[in-house]
Amino acid sequence: MQKLELKKVNKIFGAKSNQVQALKEVNFEARSGEVTLILGPSGSGKSTLLTILGGLQQPTSGEVWINGERFDGKKGKAADAFRLDHIGFVLQSYSLVPYLTVNDQFTLVDKVKKTGQIDKQTFQGYIDRLGIDKLRHKFPGELSGGQSQRAAIARALYANPDFILADEPTAALDSERVAEVGQLFKDIAEKAEKAVVIVTHDLRLREKADRIYQLVDGQITIEKS
Ligand SMILES: Nc1ncnc2c1ncn2[C@@H]1O[C@H](COP(=O)(O)OP(=O)(O)OP(=O)(O)O)[C@@H](O)[C@H]1O
Ligand SMILES: [Mg+2]
Repeated sequence: MQKLELKKVNKIFGAKSNQVQALKEVNFEARSGEVTLILGPSGSGKSTLLTILGGLQQPTSGEVWINGERFDGKKGKAADAFRLDHIGFVLQSYSLVPYLTVNDQFTLVDKVKKTGQIDKQTFQGYIDRLGIDKLRHKFPGELSGGQSQRAAIARALYANPDFILADEPTAALDSERVAEVGQLFKDIAEKAEKAVVIVTHDLRLREKADRIYQLVDGQITIEKS
């Protein structure tokens, strides 16, 4: 079983008079085979939590553990290689490369990651379910918000990571697409034994979640486990 944990994580931005404590003593756990949802309003610390979980930024104090190994504080090539092999991000800003077609966004991964790729048939199945097969040769500037969002989800899945960390992955989607994308995340967790972590304020994803946390003003509570 794969496991991601935060132990007593605090994150403080800024100095002295304009300090913001984005996370307060956060304890959190996500496991393979499950969809874990973190629900919270804007500014509650969701993106901060997710980026700390995936090692994109460091906590001010506290610990990040992946599969029983300490992950926070890991730096340089070892940390980059680990992230590349194990973690797939769907960032809030989609972060598609503007001068690459949708298809080239995926295959870019092949240049840096040589092993453990997803098999073509499985990936085509994801592409079909995300409804982006016809968009493969378009550039990000030619896509709508919802299409960009679905391309960013596909790109995260292409590297076949153990952990999928998604920041508001359904914000730009209509309800029908939310149901489909939510079910896709659930299937990936259950059938492909991945740990899917979604931070969102989209209550439409609740029914797909195995584990639900609430984040308010940087403080986390567990609602369903
Ligand atoms: N780099 C930073 N420097 C200073 N303050 C920051 C930084 N990143 C986040 N914050 C602050 O931390 C708090 C939490 O921000 P965060 O982006 O994690 O919220 P969020 O829940 O993802 O919000 P949203 O739903 O709007 O995306 C906010 O008060 C924000 O202003
Ligand atoms: Mg955010």
